[in-house]
Amino acid sequence: MYIITTENLTKKYGEFTAVDSLTMNIEEGGIFGFVGPNGAGKTTSVRMLTTMSPPTSGSATVCGIDLINDYQSAKGFIGITQQHISLDRDISVKENMIHHALLHKIPLKEIGGRIRELSELMGLEEYMDRTIISLSGGWKRRVSIVCSIIHKPKILFLDEPTAGLDTQSRHMLWELIRTLNKNGTTIFLTTHYMDEVASLCNKVGIINKGKLVALGGPDELCDELGHIAVEHIDDNGRTSYRYFPNRDSAQEYIKTFSEKKDVMMRTTNLEDVFLELTGRDVKAEKTGKVIRV
Ligand SMILES: Nc1ncnc2c1ncn2[C@@H]1O[C@H](COP(=O)(O)OP(=O)(O)OP(=O)(O)O)[C@@H](O)[C@H]1O
Ligand SMILES: [Mg+2]
Repeated sequence: MYIITTENLTKKYGEFTAVDSLTMNIEEGGIFGFVGPNGAGKTTSVRMLTTMSPPTSGSATVCGIDLINDYQSAKGFIGITQQHISLDRDISVKENMIHHALLHKIPLKEIGGRIRELSELMGLEEYMDRTIISLSGGWKRRVSIVCSIIHKPKILFLDEPTAGLDTQSRHMLWELIRTLNKNGTTIFLTTHYMDEVASLCNKVGIINKGKLVALGGPDELCDELGHIAVEHIDDNGRTSYRYFPNRDSAQEYIKTFSEKKDVMMRTTNLEDVFLELTGRDVKAEKTGKVIRV
């Protein structure tokens, strides 16, 4: 069962195409990682899929509901933690949660229990009476997540939830994301961190300049590029990268170099896939390569 389907989903701002014919299916129950360079179209895609921004053309369903014709019905199934935290800074954690519960029309008699359950899950019990402005970034994120799942959505969109967090907070959030997922929520996560994708996600989409350039499982994408990577530093100090299906073929290639100290063989990782498909520097032209597995 697919929880998200999109077909040629497109968003234009005037002449500029921010998301260009996005076609993909995402299975229910997993953690999907959506990655791409700054300005690639991640947030724009998330905004379309969460009914916040109408597509220019194309179609999409979330939980089987047509987002173009029936977006009001889809809202109850969707939770979103936006890239820029949108909590009321001057009121308490608990008051923010109550505010979101009321927005989602949760019956009054259920609100207390729901908030208690979720704040316990997020380890927020001691922070309930603190104002948002007094919290550090990691704790604000947790409050944001509670606010976005207070109506028990089937799918939670997290737009760069770990941006700017320290390593400990990042790992704590990963655990929370895993727990939410184990409890039955499908996760759609955007991030710039490939280690995060490798650690959390069962499926990855890579978007570049509005176009989907890769879709598949993390290991499948690496294998498709070539399981073994060889890095070589040339006489001008530039590093080149080549990918091979196995160690033997990589060894054959390495034999061609007279100077072995500038050659390194290792396992291909998601960062390689990302950089090969989106360019190794910000001004690089598109490679034109697309991987779907
Ligand atoms: N309301 C808007 N009007 C005009 N252009 C927009 C608007 N919103 C986004 N864009 C443009 O669309 C492109 C995609 O933006 P988007 O925010 O989706 O990127 P992103 O992948 O989320 O980037 P980041 O990693 O920096 O968050 C960018 O070029 C952006 O400038
Ligand atoms: Mg964004």
